[in-house]
Amino acid sequence: MARISASVYTSHVPAIGAALDLGKTAEPYWQPVFQGYDFSKQWLKEQKPDVIFLVYNDHANAFSLDLIPTFAIGTAAEFAVADEGWGPRPVPKVIGHPKLAGHIAQSVIQDDFDLTIVNKMDIDHGLTVPLSLMCGHPKAWPCPVIPFAVNVVQYPAPSGRRCYMLGKAIRKAIESYDEPLNVQIWGTGGMSHQLQGPRAGLINKEFDTDFLDRLIADPEGLSKMPHIDYVREAGSEGIELVMWLIARGAMNDVNGGSKPPTVRHRFYHVPASNTAVGHLILENN
Ligand code: DHB
Ligand code: FE
Repeated sequence: MARISASVYTSHVPAIGAALDLGKTAEPYWQPVFQGYDFSKQWLKEQKPDVIFLVYNDHANAFSLDLIPTFAIGTAAEFAVADEGWGPRPVPKVIGHPKLAGHIAQSVIQDDFDLTIVNKMDIDHGLTVPLSLMCGHPKAWPCPVIPFAVNVVQYPAPSGRRCYMLGKAIRKAIESYDEPLNVQIWGTGGMSHQLQGPRAGLINKEFDTDFLDRLIADPEGLSKMPHIDYVREAGSEGIELVMWLIARGAMNDVNGGSKPPTVRHRFYHVPASNTAVGHLILENN
């Protein structure tokens, strides 16, 4: 059977992608950001996942106001890199895993979650920046990736609770797949940031630190936090953090396991563009 070995959490700031693509990673502004991922790159190489289930949000690139799926699973064999206005990032296309994605869609939809099945989709910085942070500049990404897009751009976004419960359903789906795959689940986006309006530039280190603590030790309690708290404390784009709860809900300890996950790596840095960068690696026990 397939199993989830670890979960990874990271911000997806688009300027990080630009810094990488333009060779600016050693500049004093960016060096501390990328340093926070040195361990992670080595760790990922050693872990050799067979598939990454990557929870992210599209920023009106694949979707638009014409069509707003709350949860969309990418079932295609491959996904092209989106042109977000400056041409596509010079990174590899993403190879999917249609068979596992189809199995997850079957299981999760029958488990009462409404997923939109997407057979053709370009992927934007929400997905490529986390891959770049964790993999650097490879010729091809290290394994197939199943893109799972969550609407956190146009209200109403799903609640943290719904995301957490969905993570459990995704776990059940993955663990019932009849092939011995090593699967990682990544929750991306966040941390505190607001890109618009009078509070543009908002960062809340205290909130972010508490969020990381609770994600590790009390995900169940954290999942009950209402939207208004995210928006008030973490800014309008801080709502991206609900996606982290999908990955956390898929871990052993909250699905009948007796041992808490190992915190393999934890990193927090301000600033990167307008955003507080947060990053965690949790390994299942
Ligand atoms: C920024 C952060 C985001 O999450 C995003 O989607 C776009 C921009 C920023 O910090 O500039
Ligand atoms: Fe974003």
